[in-house]
Amino acid sequence: MRLSSFLYFAGFGLKTIFLKEKKPILGTIILTDKCNLSCKHCSVNNKIAKIYPYEQIRQEMKTLYDMGVRILFFCGGETFMWQDGDKTLNDLVKEAKTMGFMIVNAVTNGTFPIDLPEADLILLSLDGDKIRHNEIRGDTYDTIMDNISKAASDNICFYMAINQINKNTIESVCQKAHELKNVRAVSFNFHTPYPDTKELALSKAEKEECCHTIIKMMRKGQPVFNLKSAFPYIIENSFPTPCYQCVVIENGKISTCGRCIEVEGLCEKCGYFFVAEYTLLFSGNIKIIFDMLKTYLKYI
Ligand SMILES: C[S@@+](CC[C@H](N)C(=O)[O-])C[C@H]1O[C@@H](n2cnc3c(N)ncnc32)[C@H](O)[C@@H]1O
Ligand code: SF4
Ligand code: SF4
Repeated sequence: MRLSSFLYFAGFGLKTIFLKEKKPILGTIILTDKCNLSCKHCSVNNKIAKIYPYEQIRQEMKTLYDMGVRILFFCGGETFMWQDGDKTLNDLVKEAKTMGFMIVNAVTNGTFPIDLPEADLILLSLDGDKIRHNEIRGDTYDTIMDNISKAASDNICFYMAINQINKNTIESVCQKAHELKNVRAVSFNFHTPYPDTKELALSKAEKEECCHTIIKMMRKGQPVFNLKSAFPYIIENSFPTPCYQCVVIENGKISTCGRCIEVEGLCEKCGYFFVAEYTLLFSGNIKIIFDMLKTYLKYI
């Protein structure tokens, strides 16, 4: 991370903590809800199966930038399915950088060739060892591994949503991240139980066991892009929600924190680690602040 970006984020953090501001810094643009997969745990794919046009996405970038957002995520649906004429996801990343976003990331299922060298991080969903991943995501594991080996850059971070199907495969995903030269780390979430996927949720005891495993992996030197100090709050679901420093925009509609804010009662069961990490950070939790500095400077 550049020193200028680091100083900007530090200033934003101090203002948010001490002036109790609720301005956003992290924004996500949904490029499309279209997807080539239909994963067992996902409730957001192919609702209207639309790819939003380039001009609209560019305008949404500008809207987020003007709101103060400097960390931008492109998400979907499947982000690599986004295209408008000769414009691709790569053009959107370049455009975002030119516009002034300091960190630009994309989330993908990894089934398309991975050519996004200018993104800071490519969050690539890997949901377990080959058997469990394929059980959740269809027969995609080998294609993904092939795409990773041919990727244009080493800015990949695995993104695993831990649920009832894959809860015993945390070590295997960490080991893969450690082995593959184009993969920097693993970032975990727990399953967020939308009404149609409630049965995949983990109990408190199961979350505790998973966090123990993740800590064990961290101690072994495996690359984990999460904050250990947030785990007790994540296990108990006792972190503040929603995250006022995060916004999502889809087809012109802006939501605080996530699109899921509209699902009644979901925030109390939120499994997204970034929500815990950001809300605790901006509430001035000292352990989280130091943990975040150490972790972010290592992987971005
Ligand atoms: C909706 S997908 C979109 C990007 C891309 N298609 C992918 O799969 O990475 C973004 C991320 O959300 C995760 N996800 C989907 N439903 C979830 C849920 N209910 N709880 C936690 N994570 C979830 C996916 O596993 C994926 O890592
Ligand atoms: S690949 Fe991503 S968007 Fe598509 S179904 Fe799976 S989790 Fe949902
Ligand atoms: S806190 Fe609520 S709105 Fe935010 S990601 Fe979690 S469930 Fe969604």
